[in-house]
Amino acid sequence: MKILLIGDIVGKGGRRAAQDLIPELRREYNCSFCIANAENSAGGAGVTRKIVETLLNSGVDVLTSGDHVWDQKDFVQEIASCPKLLRPANFDSRQPGKGYGLFNVPIGGVICVINLIGRVFISKNAENPFTEVDRILEEIGDRASTIFVDFHAEATSEKIAMGRHLDGRVTAVYGTHTHVQTADEQIFPGRTAFICDLGMVGGRESILGREITPVLRTFTTGLPSHYKVVEKNIVLNGAVVEFDRETGRAVSITRITRNHEAVLGSQS
Ligand SMILES: [Fe+2]
Ligand SMILES: [Fe+2]
Repeated sequence: MKILLIGDIVGKGGRRAAQDLIPELRREYNCSFCIANAENSAGGAGVTRKIVETLLNSGVDVLTSGDHVWDQKDFVQEIASCPKLLRPANFDSRQPGKGYGLFNVPIGGVICVINLIGRVFISKNAENPFTEVDRILEEIGDRASTIFVDFHAEATSEKIAMGRHLDGRVTAVYGTHTHVQTADEQIFPGRTAFICDLGMVGGRESILGREITPVLRTFTTGLPSHYKVVEKNIVLNGAVVEFDRETGRAVSITRITRNHEAVLGSQS
């Protein structure tokens, strides 16, 4: 069985590319399930219920998120009606939403998706993601053998440590958040698939999906700038993980990069 994983979808251009390319990729790789990260899908910052519904109608089965999940203020209320969108499980437990879920696949049994956030250079006030994932795995018990972990984190050290921590216990550990796809995809000895970062669905001529000039202005002068999202010449990054659905152990991981040349009109 195969699962399609998609990196952080950035803005309207990213959404449009995801909607166009995900159904094609699912067919091409014969994927039974798709997980995508939606934390930047609303104008580059956060997500809305409407966008969640659009992406779920475009071939995505489950959405994960990260440090930007609350950027659209209404989403604090809306998340209750979005059971297929996860927020990091190690956020403060008083925050709404869920950090993991068990999802039925028509011909694949149950797939568990866990969303965690790192603490190194990103979310230092989050609970310990290593002990939190141990707690979750105990809670899940034998209800799922296929388990995918989106570790939304900045530091490669923390991500690799999480991969090694969960090796042999989950199907795949993959990183999101940096918007840059890494070339370290591998199967660990315990048959857990791993990649430090999937990358993004965002503009090729950009800095992490934002227009180059204003970001450079900040770096060169130290002045604040409005970072517009790049909506054209989108590149989609992700990976396909193949696994044994009886044992939940990984067989292969393949990195994916696709160009989406659609040029959108005015930016918003
Ligand atoms: Fe992101
Ligand atoms: Fe992030």
